[in-house]
Parts: sequence; C-alpha cells; structure tokens
Amino acid sequence: MSALPEAGAKAASVRAMFDRIAPSYDRMNRLITLGLDQRWRRSLIAALGVDGGDAVLDLACGTGDFALLARERGARVTGVDFAGAMLAAARARCPAEVALARGDAMRLPLADGAFSVAVSGFALRNFTAIPPVLAELARVLRAGGRLGLLEVDEPRARLPRIGHALWFRRVVPALGALLSDGPAYRYLPASAAYLPPPEELRAMLEEAGFTHVRRRVHLGGAAQSLTAVRA
Ligand SMILES: C[S@@+](CC[C@H](N)C(=O)[O-])C[C@H]1O[C@@H](n2cnc3c(N)ncnc32)[C@H](O)[C@@H]1O
Repeated sequence: MSALPEAGAKAASVRAMFDRIAPSYDRMNRLITLGLDQRWRRSLIAALGVDGGDAVLDLACGTGDFALLARERGARVTGVDFAGAMLAAARARCPAEVALARGDAMRLPLADGAFSVAVSGFALRNFTAIPPVLAELARVLRAGGRLGLLEVDEPRARLPRIGHALWFRRVVPALGALLSDGPAYRYLPASAAYLPPPEELRAMLEEAGFTHVRRRVHLGGAAQSLTAVRA
C-alpha cells in the first residue's frame, strides 16, 4: 500500500493490510504506544461504566483488546471486523462467550438497538467515511446507550508535537519495516490525515444522534478518547 490509498480502493487495501499484519499487530501496538494503548482502553471502558448488565459491541475489534476488557467486567460482548486474520487472532485470544462476526462497519449485520455500549479502537481513520459508521453505531445502540471511541491524535503544543512527529513519523515506520510490514507502518502515521478535527468529529457525532459528547486527550495529545450517549 502506498502511504494513503485512493478513496475507491481504501476498504480493500485496508482489509488486506490488516490481514497481513495480524500476527504482529498486538506486539507492534504495545511497542509503538510504549504499552500505553491498554491503559487507554481500560480507562475508556471504566469511563463508560461497563459492567455485567451490558451488551457491548466492539466495532472493528481487530485482535479483540476491547472485547476482552469488556468481557473481564462481565459484559456480553460481540466483536465485528472485516479482516479475517484479525478476527482469527481475536478468536484465539477471547473466551468462547465472546461472539465474533465478520462484517463491514458501514452495514453492520446486527439488529437495531441490540447494544447498551459500543466501543471502537483506532479504527475511525481506517473507514472509507465516518458519518455512515456513526449512523450504524446509533442504529445498533439503544436509547441511552454509551459510545466510546479511541483514536490517535497530535499534540498541539510545539515541543510535544516535535517529539511526537519524530516518534510517529520516523521511528514507528522504521520499527514497522524491521519487525512487521513497512507499508502498513508508513500508512499508520499518514492515515491520521483522515481524522477530522475535534469540532468536526463532535458535529458528526451530534448529527448521527449522539449527545453529551466528551473528549479526553492522553499523553499530552498522542491519543484521544471520545464518549457520547445515544439520544
Ligand atoms: C487499527 S485496527 C484496531 C483494532 C482494535 N480495535 C484495537 O483497538 O486495536 C483497525 C481495525 O479496523 C478494521 N476495519 C477497518 N475498516 C473496517 C470496516 N469498514 N469494517 C469492519 N472493520 C474494519 C480493520 O480490519 C482493523 O482490524
């Protein structure tokens, strides 16, 4: 994959890329976030108050990190992803009670109002378009359901921004080429360009039917999490 695929080819090239990197995905994630990705996922699951009474959707579940954390809290969990190799890795890690299904975020194979919580980690910028996915999340969440999104971000302050750019745009692609897949880890920093600025993302969420949108930044802006409530 060149750094950013053409719009029409994006879904197919993103799916092929995740199928390729599935075996090294978890190891690379821990390495490039210095182990903080799991702390960010845990804090989002805690902020959403996930417990044994919840039915949780992990959208674009990848290898199942969010699914596992929600299951640990006793929730009924369903993970959906369109990359078969990522789902196979999730199947190997998650207990049998976690349901896993192959599906496209733009047309979820799930019933209206089936979930009380939906989470999605590091996936927004991989979708061909964000509003149709938010509309699907609003459809499958019941009224009052909670949404949590975790994504990359860029620090605003000058020095952290320089350090972050050095790590994310130089070191991460080099580590990726060495330990996993060069093109995939050149795409990773480049794909941040697909992310709308915070105010636009908030407007998209409100337009899709979410209220109480809250944004938190992690590690001075290296990552962000958003929570919202289905109206
Ligand atoms: C960066 S990984 C994130 C995996 C996991 N959520 C995490 O927190 O590590 C992005 C995932 O989104 C999935 N994905 C991208 N576009 C998708 C779509 N349209 N429908 C379903 N899954 C999609 C990819 O297959 C990949 O597993």
